Amino acid sequence: MAILEIKHVSKFFGGLAANSDVSFEMVPGMIMGLIGPNGAGKTTLFNCITGYYPPSRGEILFDGHRMNGLHPDAVCKLGMARTWQKVRPLAKMSVVDNVMVGALCRTNSLKKARDMAMEKIKVVGLENRVKVLAGSLPIGERKKLEVARVLATKPKLLLLDEVMGGLNPAESEEIIQLILDIKNLGITQMVIEHDMKAIMRISDRIVVLNSGEKLAEGNPQEIVSNKAVVDAYLGGE
Ligand SMILES: Nc1ncnc2c1ncn2[C@@H]1O[C@H](COP(=O)(O)OP(=O)(O)OP(=O)(O)O)[C@@H](O)[C@H]1O
Ligand SMILES: [Mg+2]
Repeated sequence: MAILEIKHVSKFFGGLAANSDVSFEMVPGMIMGLIGPNGAGKTTLFNCITGYYPPSRGEILFDGHRMNGLHPDAVCKLGMARTWQKVRPLAKMSVVDNVMVGALCRTNSLKKARDMAMEKIKVVGLENRVKVLAGSLPIGERKKLEVARVLATKPKLLLLDEVMGGLNPAESEEIIQLILDIKNLGITQMVIEHDMKAIMRISDRIVVLNSGEKLAEGNPQEIVSNKAVVDAYLGGE
């Protein structure tokens, strides 16, 4: 059974169709790559899936629940969590306190939240930075912190929006390994990324958006050899 079903989803901003009749499904455990040119509607689709915007048309089913109209906190409780393209840690709070914010979605006990946070901090490899203020972390570590915070909400489905954006090759490689580790934990992931080499390595399937519409869907090999995708997006890459 699909863990996520996107059915004919459209999102309009005035006359602009940021998403237009987009449909696809995800099965549990998979990594879905979501790619396309700037402005293609990738982040908007994340916003519709996670309850930040209600879709204008269509419906989204997560784990059998209809998501339309649910608020982000209810979405998170159901087991879906996302990171943001622009990382926004709570700058004046420590690394562990930032991650505890995620864990407090599952427990009212500060002790349990701290334990859960420490576990996720280890998963992302920030155990040497636990007491550091989040605002003082370099970008690579902020991205990891963001991942730790969403992992602490105990998601079944994780949506990562350009989690490698702005990173150097060594930092990107660490994030690739982290995404594969998360897959091994059994967590399903949808990953927006412009780095095609990375997306090819991690994705089981890829959906390509272009001008709000789904241009193509397939496994990585099918996507790189799809003429419409090459013409619209990959070009010289
Ligand atoms: N809240 C909003 N109000 C009006 N227009 C919006 C809003 N959010 C997004 N858009 C528009 O919707 C379109 C899709 O934007 P979106 O951010 O989803 O693209 P994207 O694929 O994530 O692009 P990028 O790769 O640059 O992050 C763009 O034309 C954008 O300007
Ligand atoms: Mg975006």
